[in-house]
Amino acid sequence: MIRRQPKIRLIEEEREMMRSACRFNADLMDIVRPHVKPGVSTGELDRIIHEYTLDHGHVPACLDYPGEKGAFPKSCCISVNDVICHGIPGDDELKPGDIANVDLTTIVDGWHGDQSETFLIGEDQEISDQARNVTQCAFDCLYIGINATSPGCRISVIGQAIVEHVKQNYGFGVVDKYVGHGIGTQFHQRPNIPHVPSPQSHRERLHPGMCFTIEPMINGGTPNSVCDRNDGWTVRTQDGRLSAQFEHTILMTETGPEILTVTQHGPKPGFRF
Ligand code: MF3
Ligand code: CO
Ligand code: CO
Repeated sequence: MIRRQPKIRLIEEEREMMRSACRFNADLMDIVRPHVKPGVSTGELDRIIHEYTLDHGHVPACLDYPGEKGAFPKSCCISVNDVICHGIPGDDELKPGDIANVDLTTIVDGWHGDQSETFLIGEDQEISDQARNVTQCAFDCLYIGINATSPGCRISVIGQAIVEHVKQNYGFGVVDKYVGHGIGTQFHQRPNIPHVPSPQSHRERLHPGMCFTIEPMINGGTPNSVCDRNDGWTVRTQDGRLSAQFEHTILMTETGPEILTVTQHGPKPGFRF
């Protein structure tokens, strides 16, 4: 597929378009939030997301999104337990003790908002320590990554801060195969935003006007993953341990990072799961 490179430093009018796309996407997360509980199927959550998006005249970016082995068949990704990312909603029901990441992306007037949260399913006493800890770690890594950035910074400051935190506090695996990304008129555009430092991220910088995601995936064990050979999408941990993820879309402004996908009812920085 040949596409023109999209513009990556946005002017104020374009920043406003991203703000409204991300506001809609965040509102959608708050709409699905009360439905994410034991007994609901991931397909039912997808249906709610699909209908709310279409009812408001917008487009679910995941639906028919092209991949190596065919298009993504649903309107969101829901990744349960050992699924790292790109879980396809279906008939399986969420059960007490599960962790489920709901990843939403909407196209609003041509501009994309992208975010995800991991939910602990069921009552407090039904959640294992490992489930709580990987979820807490992924949540904290998102904000540690965001807070590491500043206008003109190297992209690698994000991965450095995340890896440092995980090493010192947990010893979990930080997924390096799947990365955050530039976002705007395209879902995935330059630059890559890895959650571990890399030579390319050390060379590239985040300039004012750039929109991007940070979306750390934290595994209970090895960072290695396996992609499902049948559906071509579902990515699982190689060792079968749990994986958690949180994602925001962020605008770098002249004065620092602005989180565009803030929800009203989701966990705030500093939240303890
Ligand atoms: N929302 C994911 C991300 O954060 C990408 C999902 S692509 C899909 O980048 F095709 F699987 F939906
Ligand atoms: Co993303
Ligand atoms: Co996403």
